[in-house]
Amino acid sequence: MLKGKHIILGITGSIAAYKAAYLIRALVKKGTEVQVVITPAGKEFITPLTLATLSSHPVISEFFSNRDGTWNSHVDLGLWADAMLIAPATASTIGKMANGIADNMLVTTYLSCKAPVFVAPAMDLDMFAHPSTQQNLARLRAFGNRIIEPTSGELASHLVGKGRMEEPDRIVSVLEDFFAESALLKDKKILITAGPTYEKIDPVRFIGNYSSGKMGYALAEACAERGAAVTLVSGPVSLVARHPSIQVVRVESAAEMYEAAMEAFPSMDAAILSAAVADYRPETMSDVKIKRETTSEMTLRLVPNPDIAASLGAVKKPGQVLVGFALETDRGILHAEEKLRRKHLDFIVLNSLQDAGAGFQCDTNKISILDAREHVDYPLKTKQEVAIDIVKRLAVCWS
Ligand code: CTP
Repeated sequence: MLKGKHIILGITGSIAAYKAAYLIRALVKKGTEVQVVITPAGKEFITPLTLATLSSHPVISEFFSNRDGTWNSHVDLGLWADAMLIAPATASTIGKMANGIADNMLVTTYLSCKAPVFVAPAMDLDMFAHPSTQQNLARLRAFGNRIIEPTSGELASHLVGKGRMEEPDRIVSVLEDFFAESALLKDKKILITAGPTYEKIDPVRFIGNYSSGKMGYALAEACAERGAAVTLVSGPVSLVARHPSIQVVRVESAAEMYEAAMEAFPSMDAAILSAAVADYRPETMSDVKIKRETTSEMTLRLVPNPDIAASLGAVKKPGQVLVGFALETDRGILHAEEKLRRKHLDFIVLNSLQDAGAGFQCDTNKISILDAREHVDYPLKTKQEVAIDIVKRLAVCWS
């Protein structure tokens, strides 16, 4: 999967820089072309000579070559790359990346890079745990960058904790997985529904729910990054889709979401239905603001909305993949299995509101994936990481 791929390896000033030598060797062995970009501090930890010898390419560090004044084009480099990997990434470089402080060749290249970016942090446990580092990492995740979490163990300071850069072999397999998924998702058309729906009562009031849309948007980014063309039918949320291969169709009500999804689905290879669709809407919508009646109670009569997942399941053609979600408060497996069958889904993602850190509004989620044969439980992860797990499972449908 890595054969012939172009990878920019960014190296920064951490003791883990010595592992970059192993990383380059492992990548080159797989047939990858590696171009090293190193920060000035990185050169204190490992020599450019070692890195140039292992990668068979001169190492880039400065904006201009000291020898002949030639300009190192970060723009060309960004376009050449199939992926950029920053390993090790120090707290300082992570901070600069998160805030666009382009005072060295590495960060400038990062800002010009159109390819997917992977970041493998390495630092002392307290630096890693500091809210500043965590906030910067959260920003990088929000930009769509993939954080390869550090592991726990003895650190250079001899303290024990989380901050050790992931081992080179593991980093290489993260990249391999990414390119394997990309090979399966490339040029696939994927419909994703996301967010809540609002069912109007009158011009100023609606029935809605707490869905933030984060899971659906993370799925859209993960699919698009792997080469899929995504149609994201989104209920009212404040999120924006970053990737150019995501076409956003904004809707408000379940009826509008139904129309948009039914229209798009025939030309799709898959649909992932992560929206929290209101099951009912008011029978009538008042054209004027309903005034408070002081004397009587108010009754709203609700009528059912179409079930988008079940409707797509009914018209699904052979080869089309349909993925649903089930957010449950009790007897999750039972309810999810029933929805899997009733809506003709290929698999269903179950999240339980009983799990801390799962469900609406949070940045994390804890899921199980159920299909007709088995169910697999996943640990608590960020919604971006959960999206990758779901995309991996989707890719299996085409393998
Ligand atoms: N769904 C949908 N259209 C609806 C209701 C749900 O497309 N009108 C989709 C959701 O996006 C999700 C799956 O169906 O992928 C299950 O949604 P959920 O609300 O859990 O299921 P319901 O069938 O509405 O069952 P209930 O609310 O009774 O649990």
